[in-house]
Amino acid sequence: MMEVLALAYPWLKAAHIIFVIFWMAGLFMLPRFFVYHQEAPEGSAEATAWVEREDKLSTIIMNPSMLIVWVLGLALAYYLNIWAQPWFHAKLLFVVALSGYQGWLMAYRKKLARGERPLSGKRLRMLNEIPGIAAAVIVILVIVRPF
Ligand code: HEM
Repeated sequence: MMEVLALAYPWLKAAHIIFVIFWMAGLFMLPRFFVYHQEAPEGSAEATAWVEREDKLSTIIMNPSMLIVWVLGLALAYYLNIWAQPWFHAKLLFVVALSGYQGWLMAYRKKLARGERPLSGKRLRMLNEIPGIAAAVIVILVIVRPF
């Protein structure tokens, strides 16, 4: 098992980063879609088209990417045996928060599809700062390893 991981390590890490990029792209795009969706009149053809776009972005890009990032990240952690390192605990905390944020986005998407619009466009734009800040913190934790 360890020999296989040692051989595959650079590829696993490359794939991890590639899928992080796909996941983050989705996390940035989906709330933007919500803003445009909410600006379309309820029940209009445009609103229906946004429901479809949100579904596709979620099911084709975001959910699979998040799963793959987790699987590859945990495989890297297993190979490096870094479970006890504080920077890794902090990274996990932020990644769990980011995964929770995605769960919230999925729930909001379903509400929008039912015709509910709980948050204002301004609120949604503010929430869009979350993935950017989390990604910056995570990258600093992995690269700088401040503790
Ligand atoms: C989903 C759970 C995740 C786990 C379990 C995880 C775990 C790991 C591990 C163990 C490494 C190898 C570190 C090393 O080679 O020293 C790594 C690399 C990396 N991860 Fe993650 N990761 C996760 C999610 C993320 C996310 C969400 C981001 C960015 C937003 C990210 C960004 C990176 C980067 C940039 C590297 C390369 C660091 C280097 O060059 O060594 N990871 N990850």
